[in-house]
Formats: sequence, C-alpha cells, structure tokens
Amino acid sequence: MTEHTPQDASRRNFIKGVIAAGAAVSSAAYVFRTGPLAGQQAPGSPGSVERLLTLTVNGQERRVDVMKQETLAMTLRYKLGLTGTKLGCDRSECGACTVLVDDVPHYSCSVLTHSVRGKKIQTIEGLASATGALHPVQQGVVDEQGFQCAFCMPGFVMATVGYLKTTPTPTRQELAHGISGNLCRCQDYDKILTAMMRGAEYMRRV
Ligand code: FES
Ligand code: FES
Repeated sequence: MTEHTPQDASRRNFIKGVIAAGAAVSSAAYVFRTGPLAGQQAPGSPGSVERLLTLTVNGQERRVDVMKQETLAMTLRYKLGLTGTKLGCDRSECGACTVLVDDVPHYSCSVLTHSVRGKKIQTIEGLASATGALHPVQQGVVDEQGFQCAFCMPGFVMATVGYLKTTPTPTRQELAHGISGNLCRCQDYDKILTAMMRGAEYMRRV
C-alpha cells in the first residue's frame, strides 16, 4: 500500500492550485470584464504579466490563461489536455517531459510557459501526419517493440526526433549519447536504442 507523505500532500495541493487558479481567473474574467481582479495588477502596469497567451502548439494557435510561474509541462498537460507529455521527476532529471521548442528538445517541466511565446512547440501528439501516418521514429517503436511500460516513451521519441534533425545518420553510440538525458525506469535501454535506430533508418527513407 502506498503511504502518503506530507510532501505528496503539498505537491498535490500545488498542482490543484495551478489548475484551480487558472480556472477561477478564467471564469472571473467573464464576470468582471471592466477591470483587474482584486489583488491583480492591471495589464500594462509596472511588473504585470499578460496572462492570456497565444501559443503555437503542434501547428495550431492555442489561446490559454497562464500564470507567470507556470511551466510548459503544466500548461500542456493540464490546460491544453496534451497528456502525451509525461511528468516524471518534474526537476530536469528524467526527460519524460521532453518536447521540441523551435525544433530543439527541452525539458518542459523546467521551461516557463511565458518564455516560449512566439516559438514553435511540438509534442508527441503533433508527430503523426494529418492522415494519421506515424512519424518514422514512432514507427520504429512499433516495429521494434522497444518499451516495457512506455511511460518514458514520448520523451525518448521527442528527444530522438530533435537529435535526428541535426544528426540524421548517427552511429548507435552517438544516438545513445544524444538521448542520454532521458531515463527509463524499466531499464529497457538496449531495446529502446534499437527502436530509435530503426526510426532513424526510416527517417532517412522519407
Ligand atoms: S519530468 Fe521533466 S525532466 Fe523529469
Ligand atoms: S519503459 Fe517503463 S519507464 Fe521506460
């Protein structure tokens, strides 16, 4: 049985707070349209941060209400419903939350959403083509059955897609080094690497 520690409780409260605060301000904005909410700074006042952002995610413009301290992983998962981006450690250690920002892999748990305004964000949901055809790296995963539980899979796929943009013909060792910022709790590294190398091969055929 899992024991819940005070740390778990405070973390849960934090996450609830992120969601609840966003929802509360969104709905309040409809009611009090004429001015800032109590305790909030008016837009344009010194130190204020515009909370309503337009983000470009998977080729679509998405309007979203974002707190100034909110991470991209939180916005993607809990505001935009893109739960393919996983949260493992939430502190830049595991790579489960990897997404591409302007084609470069980033840990979305450690990127503030406000810092990616005007940038192109791509998540695992945006890899398949409009016709539903899998991205070559996703196809490599399917063909090689590279993962056990696959919790880490979206992060590995996004890291590999990003790496292949700059190094399209890596050796196995080079690719292992290129995606070494991603961890797998099932310790399935050999099979994962085989799947990623298969994906690299498929990409060269496209
Ligand atoms: S959840 Fe972002 S690096 Fe682990
Ligand atoms: S396959 Fe389970 S964490 Fe990687």
